[in-house]
Amino acid sequence: MNKELYWSANDIAAAKKYLNEVVIELFGRTQRPVEERDDFLGKIFVVEKPDVANVVFQNHDLYVKNFGLVASFGASRFTLNGATWAHFREKSQKHLAKAGRPAMIPEIAKVYGEEIGFHDTLEIAELERSIGRAALRVFLKAFGIDIDVTPFLDIFQKLRAASAMLQYTSWSGTNTAKQDPDMIVLLARQMCFDFWAICQQFPELEALIRSMSDGRTDQDLEDSVSDFMTNMFAGIETTTASLGWMIDCLSKGPEVQEKLRQDVLAAEGKTPDSVKVFRDEVMRFFPPIPFVVRELAEDATLGGQDLSKGDVVVVSIVALHRDPDTWSDPNAFHAARSEFVEGSPAVTRAFKPFLTGPRMCGGRRLATLEIDEALRILLTRYKFTNSARDTGFQYALAFCPLLNNSLQIRAISEASAD
Ligand code: HEM
Repeated sequence: MNKELYWSANDIAAAKKYLNEVVIELFGRTQRPVEERDDFLGKIFVVEKPDVANVVFQNHDLYVKNFGLVASFGASRFTLNGATWAHFREKSQKHLAKAGRPAMIPEIAKVYGEEIGFHDTLEIAELERSIGRAALRVFLKAFGIDIDVTPFLDIFQKLRAASAMLQYTSWSGTNTAKQDPDMIVLLARQMCFDFWAICQQFPELEALIRSMSDGRTDQDLEDSVSDFMTNMFAGIETTTASLGWMIDCLSKGPEVQEKLRQDVLAAEGKTPDSVKVFRDEVMRFFPPIPFVVRELAEDATLGGQDLSKGDVVVVSIVALHRDPDTWSDPNAFHAARSEFVEGSPAVTRAFKPFLTGPRMCGGRRLATLEIDEALRILLTRYKFTNSARDTGFQYALAFCPLLNNSLQIRAISEASAD
């Protein structure tokens, strides 16, 4: 089976275009008054109000996860529901929770320092790859594994394309001969086998994944592989997307960048509040997961709308983050946004980049520590400039900026010689 041929460049381009249009639509809605927005996108009910979203987030047995064909990668805590989800969650959450403790900051700083702190000249693509390497190393360290991560970066390219195809096929209903869902399921499973072949090059990683399996059947082992792969992929994609948007915003705001740099230098190894506010504002404005999809397990009324079992709802994180009744000047970017500076109730109510409730991000604390450490290094080591006004993006599971060489990076010693 040749997946490169099967997913032709045209197939992938069509999928990417479709997915980007979904995200553009969600952003577009936030530019219109609430009363002019349709409640439905096609047949899908769109949740945009923070209180209604919280009903969905808290009632995870009623509003269950529906990842469509993305679930074909295999079992994982991302896609499962109910008791099986709780069982899978248990396996990884203790590792992620431990890795997200403040005591881990020096280790995280060391990894990011090694990967992104030493370049004298570099292009943005190289910096993004180094950030990806650091995020991967930190993820594996959470499970006690310290190995060369290069082979995983390569398979992530394929996973990205596969995710896009699976989401596209699920949501667009496209079912041409070439995009036969049965074949797509097989191809997704093949990704898992390819991933496992790489893991087996590292005996300690193989042993870890085997130890996390229930160990009774081959299926148990396959489930353990797919769970690990999905956790790894989702964690790295979102963290690198977040840092990408942060670099983009720094590059377009030289004064903000200089102020944050001075704050970091004055904070002597700590992350200053101004950097945390900037971090949160970037995640508000460009949420790495712009929306989540849920399916009703029973008939229910949500936000005044009667819905039936099997109906699909989309919670637009984009819209929560720009809710006009919650945020001041919601469609503008403010690096020192007052709601974050003051810790206003808006933040608890409507800032949900990691979600909230039982299905919230399992790596929130770890991701936040990583971003803080990465930002400190980036701000003190490099100066970012950008000749372009707008930045393109790609959505496939995560919402990533398409950074190019209009974004220039210079090492600080060189930049300060100007
Ligand atoms: C800035 C970075 C990140 C963001 C914005 C983010 C956001 C999210 C969101 C929105 C979800 C819920 C998805 C849904 O319900 O459809 C989620 C789930 C999850 N995330 Fe993250 N994430 C980030 C980084 C990470 C990292 C670094 C890890 C692991 C090291 C991780 C592990 C997980 C796991 C395991 C889940 C599934 C939770 C469950 O349902 O049991 N995330 N994340």
